Amino acid sequence: MSTNKNENTMDKLVSLCKRRGYIFQSSEIYGGINSCWDYGPMGVELKKNIKEFWWKSMISSREDVEGLDTSILMHPKIWEASGHVDSFTDPLVDCKNCKKRFREDMVEGNKCPNCGGELTDTRQFNLMFKTNMGPVEDEASIVYLRPETAQGIYANFLNVQKSSRQKIPFGIGQIGKAFRNEITPGNFIFRTREFEQMEMQYFVKPDTDREWMDYWKEERMYWYVNLGIRKDKLRLHEHSSDELAHYAKTAFDIQYNFPFGWQELEGIHNRSDFDLKQHIKYSGKDLSYFNEATRDRFVPYIIETSAGCDRTLLTTLIDAYTEEEVRGEKRVVLKLSSHIAPLKIGVFPLVKRDGMPELARKVTDSLRKKTMVFYDESGAIGRRYRRQDEIGTPFCVTIDSESLENSTVTVRDRDTMEQLRVNIDKLNSFIGEKLRD
Ligand code: GAP
Repeated sequence: MSTNKNENTMDKLVSLCKRRGYIFQSSEIYGGINSCWDYGPMGVELKKNIKEFWWKSMISSREDVEGLDTSILMHPKIWEASGHVDSFTDPLVDCKNCKKRFREDMVEGNKCPNCGGELTDTRQFNLMFKTNMGPVEDEASIVYLRPETAQGIYANFLNVQKSSRQKIPFGIGQIGKAFRNEITPGNFIFRTREFEQMEMQYFVKPDTDREWMDYWKEERMYWYVNLGIRKDKLRLHEHSSDELAHYAKTAFDIQYNFPFGWQELEGIHNRSDFDLKQHIKYSGKDLSYFNEATRDRFVPYIIETSAGCDRTLLTTLIDAYTEEEVRGEKRVVLKLSSHIAPLKIGVFPLVKRDGMPELARKVTDSLRKKTMVFYDESGAIGRRYRRQDEIGTPFCVTIDSESLENSTVTVRDRDTMEQLRVNIDKLNSFIGEKLRD
């Protein structure tokens, strides 16, 4: 019997993430800090694998997309031009009694959801974090922590286009941190104040924006399916006019059916020529593109694909989290796709004697040259399997007494729990092929 997802999935997942070294509460020894999380040894591997998969699919395997890595702190005029200083706001109300703050759309009527007290009038709250550059803390030294990575790409549009000699249509992608002073962060790493984005901006001729929007919607859906997310848990949602961000002409969200409902996983936006025109206006620099072939000059439209790395990681964990009953006992297993699983193989000597640990170490060393392996000799074999199941390790290799006699080992499949005997000489290629499946 397999019971996937129930009301407590989030609680169980948070606890598994701590227990198995995926994600820890930031500053836990001081009581934690709201909505900030740290990635442990398993989390950091999973995150790296997701980022590598994105980079490979979106940049290195394509001729028409270049990579970039821009700084978090940028000229403050960037954020005036982009519209974030004026428009990147959420409507906020305060409770006059308990002083709690809420996003306006989170409350009904004029009553505080916490204590029933009276609420203030709505005011706009800017989500950008401010800081000061240099030793003087005055208006002139204000800089912002970027709330999206996109603007660094727009500011470098011509630098990249000219140095890479790309012709429109082409794209620029980057992965990096973004910061938003969210009023209502929550749901573990779903909405936090510090997060990582994987964004790609595709520059196109103005009258081709619709077809490129369709192209990227399809590509990006396909990417999540290839990542290993179940297709029936994904859908596209088109923004109505009151949902559109200030820069968007049209927008679609790729949504996932989280335990707390359908929510945005990635935004795909037709940003038109809004951003480049704003930067032309505020910087006084010509950011138009000259098409040599047709001898015409235009300001490109931009189709943006904006994914959250942490949110994608959360989705892979939720999608993979499975509880099963095996011979009357509960088994928790993370059925992560093997290409993103942090560990690929667990290696165990059946017992800690008779030369089994020595042979198991040898096997580990040989496998480690190619992939992420974890050696474990402590505790009962069943418990070692369960530990790797919870981490999501696709294969476990066990060295037993037969191994000492005929140089074969058992290879256990995480999902089916089937065990096959494989010759040690063939182990690398056997597992290599399975991991490629
Ligand atoms: N450049 C466009 C842009 O930033 P967005 O829809 O505001 O668009 C894109 O954000 C993605 O970034 C979201 O789909 C989500 O995955 C991620 N994201 C946004 N805010 C987030 C937050 N507070 N915590 C975690 N991820 C967030």
